[in-house]
Amino acid sequence: MKPLRCVVLISGRGSNLAAMIKARDSAELPLEIITVISDKPQAEGLKVAKAAGISSKCIQARDFTDRAHYDLELLRLIDSCQPDLIILAGFMRILGASLVAQLTNKIINLHPSLLPKYPGLDTYNRALAAGDLEYGASIHFVTAELDAGTVISQIRLPVQASDTAYTLAARLQPFEHKLMVATLRLFREHTVKSKSAMLVVDEKTYKNPFTLAAAGYLRAAGTD
Ligand code: GRF
Repeated sequence: MKPLRCVVLISGRGSNLAAMIKARDSAELPLEIITVISDKPQAEGLKVAKAAGISSKCIQARDFTDRAHYDLELLRLIDSCQPDLIILAGFMRILGASLVAQLTNKIINLHPSLLPKYPGLDTYNRALAAGDLEYGASIHFVTAELDAGTVISQIRLPVQASDTAYTLAARLQPFEHKLMVATLRLFREHTVKSKSAMLVVDEKTYKNPFTLAAAGYLRAAGTD
């Protein structure tokens, strides 16, 4: 089977990108990262791409008159790569409805909350303020509405009494990486259906993320 061909969009440190590269290099995940696109020239993730020999490009908002022109350039670049999937891994820019409509079910985003709870920013503090007993991260299809597309997979972790936004983020991060790799594997195996199933995992079931689908952790998403 061919590798999954991806374009990865970032704005920051690129630890999820690094996890994808590691999975690719260890042959855990047949993945081709065609190019990395950042909206920030100082994004650490650009160095991660460079060190791995992956081409990258920075598209800065200040070089465009408006969002429509920015999105046109982004679409042109994505189209030139002909990817199977576009992965938003810490990409902090909202994509316009027209761009998203042209890439339906081809863009996924990693979001640090148990969607549909807490779309948008400041998710950890909002979970703490609400007194939530669990928190986590979701990977979902990108639609025109912010963080509102169908959820494909989630990692759920318990909130502890002493937690702060910082400790929640630090504890979640390695699980986000595993969730990303496990989810990309599902895409590569063509087991993701846009409206049918959600991969739900917790710390205990995470011993071997790659057997999760086979072990029955794909469950019906109910009303979806
Ligand atoms: C992740 O924590 C993700 O939940 C959020 O942005 C962060 C990206 O981190 N969307 P990194 O740039 O991959 O290290």
